[in-house]
Amino acid sequence: MTHMHVAGALHADATTPAPVWLTRPEDVNSLTAKLWSETVKRDENGVITVGGLRLTDLAEQVGTPAYVIDEVDFRSRARDWREAFAGWTVYYAGKSFLCGTIVRWAAEEDLNLDVCSLGELTVALRAGFDPARIGMHGNNKSEAELRLALEHGVGRIIVDSSDEISRLERLCAELDTTARVMIRVTTGVEAHTHEYIATAHEDQKFGFSIAGGQALVGLFRCHHSPRLQLLGVHSHIGSQIFDTNGFEVAARRTLKLFSQFKEATGLELAELDLGGGFGIAYTKEDTPATPDELARGLRDIVEHECRGFGLNPPAISIEPGRAIVGPSGLALYRVGTVKPVDVGNGMNRRYISVDGGMSDNIRPALYAAEYSAALASRSSAAEPVVSRVVGLHCEGGDILVRDEFLPGDVAIGDLIAVPAAGAYSRSMASNYNHTPRPPVVSVRDGKVRTMLRRETLDDLLALDAGLSENEEPNG
Ligand SMILES: Cc1ncc(COP(=O)(O)O)c(C=O)c1O
Repeated sequence: MTHMHVAGALHADATTPAPVWLTRPEDVNSLTAKLWSETVKRDENGVITVGGLRLTDLAEQVGTPAYVIDEVDFRSRARDWREAFAGWTVYYAGKSFLCGTIVRWAAEEDLNLDVCSLGELTVALRAGFDPARIGMHGNNKSEAELRLALEHGVGRIIVDSSDEISRLERLCAELDTTARVMIRVTTGVEAHTHEYIATAHEDQKFGFSIAGGQALVGLFRCHHSPRLQLLGVHSHIGSQIFDTNGFEVAARRTLKLFSQFKEATGLELAELDLGGGFGIAYTKEDTPATPDELARGLRDIVEHECRGFGLNPPAISIEPGRAIVGPSGLALYRVGTVKPVDVGNGMNRRYISVDGGMSDNIRPALYAAEYSAALASRSSAAEPVVSRVVGLHCEGGDILVRDEFLPGDVAIGDLIAVPAAGAYSRSMASNYNHTPRPPVVSVRDGKVRTMLRRETLDDLLALDAGLSENEEPNG
C-alpha cells in the first residue's frame, strides 16, 4: 500500500510529483531484473522480448490484452524452491494460477500441489496429477468436493472446522474409506507486507484457534476418529511476507500445540505445514528474500522451536504460489488513449488507458496493490514522466499501475508490459462490464503456446438465457 505515502519532490515540470518510494530512473528503458522473468530483455531495436519472442510479434499473434508466462522462468523458480527446501515438501499453491499446463509443469518439476476448490481439484485431476501429492484446502468444502477428494485418494485434506470433521466422517463412512487430514490452525499471527501483528483474538474465518483451545479439541477429535488419519497441523499466516519473523511466532505457537498434544496422548504429530505467502517484487522498492535465505531461516526456526519443546522435528511442507508463478508472468496491453489531467497547482497527471483493466487484474482495486510498467514495443528517448496506467472499465478505481515513470511520448498503439502479473491476475479475473477474459500464453524458445484461450463475447453471451438465441422453453 505504498501509494499511501505522502508525495515527494517534484520530478518533472508540469506533472504530478512521484510518491516518495518511486525514484526517477536514470534510463527509462532499463528493466530492473528483479521485476521481470528470467528471459526478459530488450532487443537491439528496443522491443521487449520474452523467451526469445518480441512482444510486438506476440501481440500480433495472440492480440492484447494477454497474460504471458515465461516457461523457463517458471520451471527454474519451481526448481529453486524445491532445491532450497530439499528434505521438505513444496506444494505449489494452485490458487495463484492453475491450468492444465501449469499442473503438468508442477508435476515435471517434482512439486506437490495445493488446491482449494472443486474447480482447482478437477483441473489437477484432469491434467493427471498424482492425487496422493495433492493437498485440499477450503473453509467451506462442499460434499461434492470432499467426495471427489476421497474417491481419488487425495493425499491430505486440511480441515477447517468441526462441521467439516463431521461432514468428512459421514462421507468416509458412506464411501467406506478413510481420509488423511491436517488441522488448519489460526496462530494469531497476521502477516502483512513488512510487519506482522500478533492478535490475541483471531477475527477471521479460517481455521481452528490455538488461543481459544479449538485447535487442540479438533486434533483430539481427528485423532480419535476411526475414519480420519491425523497427519498434523497447517498454519498459513498471510501474503507478501518478506521476512521470517511472522513464521517464527507461528511455528512457536504451533509447535507448542504439538507438545500439548504429545502431553495428552503420548504421541508426536508427524507433519507441519507452514503455508505460503512468500513475497515477490512488484515494484523496485520490494526486496524479497531468496528461497535459499528463507529455507535457512525457516529450518533454524523449526529446529530451535522443536528443541525448546523437546519434539522430534516433524515432516515440514510449505505452499508457495505467488513466489513461483508471480514473477514468471507479465500482462501485455495496448494503449488506447493518453490524457493529461489537470490535478491543480499547474500540474497534471498522465493517464494512459489500455485495453484491459480491473477485470484482468483486480489486485490494485482490491488491495491497493502496487505494480510497475514499461513501454514494451520500443525504447524511447523522451523524458520519464510520472504516469498512471488505467483500464477501460466504468470505475474510477480501475487502475492497473498507480504510479510509474514512463517515457513522456507513450502514445496510442504502444504496448505496455506489467511485470509480476503471473499470480492472482487471471485466477482472480472477472467479466466485469461483459469483458471477455484475456488468454494466458506461455513462451519458450521463441514459440507461443496457448495455456488458456481468450474468452470471446460469444462465450459470455451463451450464458445469457435472456437472449433470444439462447432461450429455452422452461428457462
Ligand atoms: C492456505 C494457503 N496456502 C498457500 C497460499 C499461497 O499464498 P502465496 O501465493 O502468497 O504464496 C495461500 C494464499 O492465500 C493460502 O491461503
